[in-house]
Amino acid sequence: MSFPRKFCTFVVNVLCLPLHLMKAVGLYEYYKRVFPFCVYRISITYNKKMHDKKKELFHSVPEFSDSGKPVKILEIGCGSGTNFEFYPSGSRVTCCDPNPHFRKFLKKSMEQNDHLSYDSFVVSSGEDMSSVGDECVDVVVCTLVLCTVRDITQTLREVHRVLRKGGAFFFMEHVVADPSTWSHFFQHVLQPLWYYFGDGCEVTRETWKYLEAAGFSELQLRHIETPLMFAIKPHIVGYAVK
Ligand SMILES: C[S@@+](CC[C@H](N)C(=O)[O-])C[C@H]1O[C@@H](n2cnc3c(N)ncnc32)[C@H](O)[C@@H]1O
Repeated sequence: MSFPRKFCTFVVNVLCLPLHLMKAVGLYEYYKRVFPFCVYRISITYNKKMHDKKKELFHSVPEFSDSGKPVKILEIGCGSGTNFEFYPSGSRVTCCDPNPHFRKFLKKSMEQNDHLSYDSFVVSSGEDMSSVGDECVDVVVCTLVLCTVRDITQTLREVHRVLRKGGAFFFMEHVVADPSTWSHFFQHVLQPLWYYFGDGCEVTRETWKYLEAAGFSELQLRHIETPLMFAIKPHIVGYAVK
């Protein structure tokens, strides 16, 4: 790590001391109540800017239906349900998220997207989805979640377990920028602050490496530059088939 980057990161860490302290004494937990509202507001803008890219990604979902039956979808870290509008009509959706305070926003999104049927909302993390059986879904979806899970490898192990053979894992995730760019520099410098704003989100992850190592039989992955702010501009998008 270069000296200027080390120094700037140190300064940001010092400025974040009150936040570090709040986390240490458990006060940061209150942010979990506010965060769903922030995600709900931000995802409206995100979906506007990423509409065509999401449409293109989820266009392939029907291909993974089991013998023409309605597609069974499990969405991990569903948040306020911003992806529902892109799922094919008749799909059966199960969602999970460790933050129960999303329930209100999720309900609203479910009401707006009555072209789907909803099985359940499971309050659990992607690392432990023990209430979801083995090989019981056709499609698993994660958008803007692998940046936050504590353990990407374990989450992908769970994705692999719940997918039936021939099913697919769809993802759209922001990732670390190219090391030769200023974005890469500022992603690392601002990370300590971003962590709190994004409820544990890390903008410096090389998420594609975990997907490449996860043992899927086919991986369709593209690196794209999105029309979003520098910290979350570089994305990976695609799907992996079990
Ligand atoms: C930035 S939001 C994205 C929400 C939604 N997927 C979207 O695209 O709008 C990140 C989501 O990941 C959830 N999350 C955090 N840690 C998680 C974990 N370990 N497993 C699954 N989801 C998690 C958060 O509660 C939140 O809903």
